[in-house]
Parts: sequence; C-alpha cells; structure tokens
Amino acid sequence: MDETARTEQPPTPRGVRRRDVLVGGGGAALGALATWAGLRVDAPADSGAAPSDAAPDGGTTAPAVYRGDLTEPWQGEHQAGIVTPPQGFATLTAYDLRDGVDALRLERLMRIWTDDVSRLAEGRPGLTDTEPELAAHPARLTITVGLGPGAFDRTGLEAQRPAWLAQLPPYPIDALEDAWTGGDLMVQVCGEDPSTVAHAARYLAKEAADLASVRWAQHGFRNAAGQVPASLTFRNQFGQLDGSSNLQGEEGEHVWITDPDAPAWLRGGTTMVVRRIHMNLDKWDELDRVGREVIVGRRLGDGAPLTGGDEFTSPDLAAVNELGFPAIDAAAHIRRARTDDPTQRILRRPYSYEAAPSVIPSDTGQIFIAFQADLEHQFLPVQARLAELDLLNQWTTPIGSAVFAIPRGVRQGEFLAQDLFP
Ligand code: HEM
Repeated sequence: MDETARTEQPPTPRGVRRRDVLVGGGGAALGALATWAGLRVDAPADSGAAPSDAAPDGGTTAPAVYRGDLTEPWQGEHQAGIVTPPQGFATLTAYDLRDGVDALRLERLMRIWTDDVSRLAEGRPGLTDTEPELAAHPARLTITVGLGPGAFDRTGLEAQRPAWLAQLPPYPIDALEDAWTGGDLMVQVCGEDPSTVAHAARYLAKEAADLASVRWAQHGFRNAAGQVPASLTFRNQFGQLDGSSNLQGEEGEHVWITDPDAPAWLRGGTTMVVRRIHMNLDKWDELDRVGREVIVGRRLGDGAPLTGGDEFTSPDLAAVNELGFPAIDAAAHIRRARTDDPTQRILRRPYSYEAAPSVIPSDTGQIFIAFQADLEHQFLPVQARLAELDLLNQWTTPIGSAVFAIPRGVRQGEFLAQDLFP
C-alpha cells in the first residue's frame, strides 16, 4: 500500500474510487494523487506484498504471509542489531549489577547470554526457557549486548574501561530522569514480532536475575513488517521522515571500531548512545505545516530539503530565499546536525515510544539510538551543537540518557566480550 493513500488522505478525484487506490488497482490515479501531494510513489512491485497476498475479492482481508521464520545472523565480526535494517519493534533493558558481582560472575553472565542469543536468534528456546513455544518464530530477532561504565568500575575491571565510556556531559536541554538514565549493562532486543521480542527480553532478564537487576526497560516501535514499503524511510511521531541522511551500510567504517590500539574485545564493536527524548505532540499540533518544515529544514511530504530536489538531495545551506534570508533556517535541525566531515557522521537507529497508552496529553517520543566508532569525535560534537541551538529543542526534551560499549561479535565457540576477562 502506498503511504500517500494511508497518511496524506488527499481528496479522491472524481472517477477514482478510494478502494482502487488502496488496492493498487488505480496505478495511474495513484501517481496523480502522489503528484498532488508532492510525494514519492513506490512502484507496485515495491509494496512488499506478494501476488498471493491479495484477497480473492481484491479487498482488504488478505491473509498475512508467514515471515516468522526469518532470521538474522547472530555470529560474525559484529553483533547484530546495529547495521541490521531496523525491525519493527524493540525492547531496550538496562541493568544494574548486583553488589558483589565480580569479573568472574560478569564473565559467567556473558557466557549465559551468548548461549541465549545463539538459540533465540535461531528460533530455539533458551536452555531453561519455561515458555519454549514463544521462541519458535524469531521473526528477524536480534539481541545486542552492551557494557556501561559500571560493568568495569563495579567488577574490578576499572583499568579496562575505555576512557570515553561515561555518562554524556550535562546539556542545558536535558531534563534527565533517573528512571531512564545510566546502566551497567544493556540488552537491545529487536524483531518483527512484539511477542517474540517481549519473550526474549524477559528471558534474558530472568537469566541475569541473580547477578543484575533491571534499571530501566523501554520499548519502541517503527512500522510492523510489510505495512509500509521497505524502501520508505521511517516516519517519527511528528510525521517526519527520519533517517534520510544517515550512515549507510558501505560506510560501516564509521560505525565499527577498527583502531588497532583498541582492546581486542572492542575491535569490531562500537559505541552506543541511548537517549529517551520526549516529543511534545500537543504543542507540535499548534504549528502549521510551513512552521513544521522550517524547524527541520525539510518538507514533510517527501523529506526533500527546503532548497529542493528529493529526499536524498543534499541541502544547499548557502541558498537564500527571495527576502535574502537563509532558505534553511540558521537554527533548523538539519543545518545544526549536519557535518561535512564524513568521519563525523553517526548511525541513527531510532524507535518511537508511547508511554502506556497516552493519547491526550501525549507521552510520546523517540528512543534515539546512535552507533558510532568514536563517541568523542562523532557523537559529542553533533549533540553539543544541537544542545546549543536547534529549533526542534522547543518541542523535544531528553529525559533519559545512557552510553554503552558494544563488544565485537562472536564466532563459533566464543562468548561475548571474552577477551575482556583475564
Ligand atoms: C526526538 C528528537 C529528534 C527528532 C524528532 C529528529 C528528527 C530528525 C529529522 C526529521 C531529520 C531529517 C531527516 C534525516 O536526515 O534523517 C533529522 C536529521 C538528523 N538528526 Fe535528528 N532528530 C532528533 C534528535 C536528534 C539527536 C539527539 C541527534 C544527535 C545528537 C540528531 C542528529 C541528526 C543528524 C546527524 C541528522 C542528519 C543531518 C544531515 O546529515 O542532514 N537528531 N533528525
């Protein structure tokens, strides 16, 4: 189904039945509508729907195609869930190590979790799983494990803690709550099926219970698999295309730690920032469309920069409008976030959140997740610029923040972060 029909809801021109548009029977009409709305149109082949998906009557009752057997590789140089194309659902859990947990016990937990990851990612239950049936449909499950500062400082491994692994500096925009901040360990579980994700996240928590308690847990969503074309950039709850200018697969060199001086457990790993950012939808509702576009510097419909082109055209930051003012506002989010230095770019992998169901007033936002090889060189400068000046700050408030080191991936017979332990 095309996004045009789903979200923009333009008036249906005479002679084109809304149903024709919805079921793809009105290809030409769809193009016309998209042009009307200034949107990109994906070819029907891109709809992600196999011909067999169509209901016999061409209606909307098509049976869903089973995709729960799809898996993502969990072994290799890097952990999964980082450059993996984002799945629809995520649960992030941060843990505090219990008092007295030393390096030996932390090592034990890493062994246990590695075994759990290897099984769950393949659709097999963990060894002590009391609900083994819930593991049967992995649906692209990935589990990414990280270490916070306390994993070193509280276990006698202080000397091994990378210098950058600490809380982010305080920013004037922050209103951080303890409930969403910090953590000695991180488990990010992502997948296309919320039931499988919930089970995996809870199973790992049960496995850790003797050694670590849950500090915070949050779940996030994007689009469920197959509900929007795979090629469509994610839309956040402000309705913006979010991820148009992002590190792509081939730019992985800026995601992975390759520094030969980095410790072995980190080479092939990365750094992870998690920020829970409240988005004030009720205040955002007061803006008109033009205002919303000025704040980010891109058009809402197709994500193109306000200086023209399409979603993937570089913005012309030097362009001025007919009044001589910058065409992209001096404080627009993309101007402030952008860098010309490719080595300073970050990989954003955000999820929306909605605190248990919140309608009006809204308690909605983004679990902003960023991966980058070098926290200090890549993440800190952009965050500092945005904290200093960004129009978006009037509608967004960071309420949680955490930083983790993501160990390299594991190969057969290895366990997570194993080179960290004596
Ligand atoms: C809820 C908070 C946020 C929202 C709603 C948001 C939204 C957006 C949108 C709509 C874009 C333009 C489309 C795109 O290129 O992806 C964008 C770009 C970007 N954002 Fe954010 N953003 C948020 C927070 C952040 C934070 C905390 C950072 C980093 C610290 C950040 C860094 C970036 C970067 C690097 C770009 C790409 C700039 C470019 O290369 O053109 N954003 N964001």
